[in-house]
Amino acid sequence: MYLEQRRNSILDYLDQHDSLSVAWLATAFSVSKETIRSDLAALATQGMIQRCHGGAMVIRRNLQAKLISETGGNFEVLLQRLEGQRQRSAPRDSTRTKGRVCILGSFNVDIVAKVARFPKGGESLLALGSTLGPGGKGANQAMAASRAGARVHFVSKVGTDQFSQFAFDHLSASDIHSFRLYQSEVEPTGNAIIYVSQQDGENMIAIYSGANKTLTDGEVAEMTHELAASDVLLVQLENNFSATLNAMKLATTLGVRVIMNPAPFSADALACLQYVDVLTPNETEASLLSGVEVNDLDSAKEAALAIVRQGAKRVIITMSSRGALILENGQFQHIAAFPALSVDTTGAGDAFNGAFAAALANGQTIAQAATYAAAFASLAVEREGASNMPDHPQVVARLAQR
Ligand code: RIB
Repeated sequence: MYLEQRRNSILDYLDQHDSLSVAWLATAFSVSKETIRSDLAALATQGMIQRCHGGAMVIRRNLQAKLISETGGNFEVLLQRLEGQRQRSAPRDSTRTKGRVCILGSFNVDIVAKVARFPKGGESLLALGSTLGPGGKGANQAMAASRAGARVHFVSKVGTDQFSQFAFDHLSASDIHSFRLYQSEVEPTGNAIIYVSQQDGENMIAIYSGANKTLTDGEVAEMTHELAASDVLLVQLENNFSATLNAMKLATTLGVRVIMNPAPFSADALACLQYVDVLTPNETEASLLSGVEVNDLDSAKEAALAIVRQGAKRVIITMSSRGALILENGQFQHIAAFPALSVDTTGAGDAFNGAFAAALANGQTIAQAATYAAAFASLAVEREGASNMPDHPQVVARLAQR
């Protein structure tokens, strides 16, 4: 078969199957995996397909572009169109083995200084070590959900600087099933300056969001296909709120459950509770959202009730060594923390949220998923680096220890 013919056939196959592995295509066309990889690279360069972990998937850009252009760029009109289509859409495929999680969120470059203790204002302190690595709550949560066994589609935005290639390489080499990385011509890739104290692994973070704050309506609209095929949408607050809000509206219209991790704190979280199925603040965020200072289980219960009174459907307050508190249907449930030898708490919340989303997408109840996520996060704090996540078998082993 000629090269062009094979590439067209690959596109036909992808159209029928949505996504396929390199190994499957190599067998189907009786060629080597190398040949298929070069075919996929060429098709990806032409914008015909999107590479994903171990294979490729079609880009339904034309379909989406048509839908989006018909709406004149008006997001509300797009939602109405989709609402009209929803009744006609096919039921979910019950044979799939992995839950599907769509994540809209940030990518940051994390510049980390290990310090014996946090510096005081005006003080210069020699660091014990320094690293530069991938981070951003969105990317970390996408890593966590993938390692927890979900099929993840991640949408993010970086600059055109050298860190954009760093982001692309990191995501390509990860377990994340597929991703779409937009580039801002104006803002740089987001970054975070992080201190990790060697006393207890505690962290302090200053974030410059940069390109993360420049997601457009059109870019969010381009998630439609992947979001429609997902069980759960997971968002945080490191992007421009208009994009996060539109993604949540889109998910609600498509009947996809929404988890919002309201981090870093912004009062915007209170303006969109109608679109959120599960809100997952930590103690600091819960205090700011509720006006109740959270410092133990009783104050967490008070804060959760105050957040529900403001319109939240379900709240999970994550409290590190104090575990997690669930408030659902007026009932509290406390998930005890798993003992851990904490070396770096950066990304602990991301570990919890990504694992929680994966477990929920896999069909677990809120309490089961929160227990799984607590075990996952306890393993994450035993590793250095915000994006350095454990895997599912390790979590199973930790759960078995309880
Ligand atoms: O939650 C940890 C993350 O917060 C870091 O990776 C940093 O980039 C900030 O987004």
